[in-house]
Amino acid sequence: MQTLQTTSLRVVKNQLFILDQQALPQEKSWLDASSVEALVGHIHALRVRGAPLIGLSASLLLALLAERGNSRDELAVALETLRASRPTAVNLMNNLDRMKQALWQEDFVPALVAEALRLIEEDKQLCDAIAKAGSALVKPGSRLLTHCNTGGLATAGVGTALGVIAHAHQQGLVSNVWVDETRPLLQGGRLTAWELGELGVPYQLIVDSMAASLMAKGEVDAVWVGADRIAANGDVANKIGTYSLAVLAKFHGIPFYVAAPHTTLDPDCPNGEAIPIEQRAASEVTGVAGSFGAVQWAPEKARVYNPAFDVTPAALIAGWVLDTGVVTPEAVSNGFFRGSAA
Ligand code: MRU
Repeated sequence: MQTLQTTSLRVVKNQLFILDQQALPQEKSWLDASSVEALVGHIHALRVRGAPLIGLSASLLLALLAERGNSRDELAVALETLRASRPTAVNLMNNLDRMKQALWQEDFVPALVAEALRLIEEDKQLCDAIAKAGSALVKPGSRLLTHCNTGGLATAGVGTALGVIAHAHQQGLVSNVWVDETRPLLQGGRLTAWELGELGVPYQLIVDSMAASLMAKGEVDAVWVGADRIAANGDVANKIGTYSLAVLAKFHGIPFYVAAPHTTLDPDCPNGEAIPIEQRAASEVTGVAGSFGAVQWAPEKARVYNPAFDVTPAALIAGWVLDTGVVTPEAVSNGFFRGSAA
């Protein structure tokens, strides 16, 4: 495969490397992800993360394995192992469905390579289209609040919600971005803060529980988040803490927008209750770990509840900003997402 580089994926001499998102921002280290075992390990550890990126990394690896001479049967097993690596973000399943179609073509090696490269190129275009559609909703002087990380690190392009914010900033519309640190894994504090800094977008980092008082003081004009899965009724699974922001935004009369590519849609999933939610290790809540080391503050035997995502009901969402444009609550009530193919 040709040499390829995105913010957090790299293909060089038929090997896949990922930018370790657990080591950022202190360390910028590229890790080998050229086997199913290695990539699944990186996905489990969130060294590769973000709904679009998970799907793209798995697709690239399959293409590389095909080029390395793996048989169709071996690739089919690899595909299913990768599909099971994280359960909530549907982009992984949608991307791998496309790769599976390529796998069943007679000349499957070039078909898989072409499909993986197409998915990367498409994702860049989807991000650009989302950024354009979303920034039309941003009013001059906006103070925006965002959660988790939805930027170039999480996609092949400029990102989803963060792409909107960056594009709006380029148009001079953003006066400040409130960045939720996003416990437990701190994607906001580590990754979004870093990306916004690199882009020169003014931001202030807050702990998640500060959003309510900022909204009460009238310091937030809109909330922008990404999505891991959008159900047919418009319910959205996203990083834990998203739902509480949506409730707060509704109470304070602040628009709450979800930005995502169509690869995040799951028309076969009727509503949020049917979205599988990943449960994660207790150690993520009892302490924190990164390139800075690991600390634990909770008692050794503390019992922990740690769902990685929550579901925001459609009724709390002011607009779903897709690559195809802004979908309104009225359109969603009229069944817009039902039957929309990814
Ligand atoms: O557990 P993560 O870090 O993979 O969760 C990421 C999110 O929830 C993002 O908001 C979502 O994947 C959209 S990324 C463009």
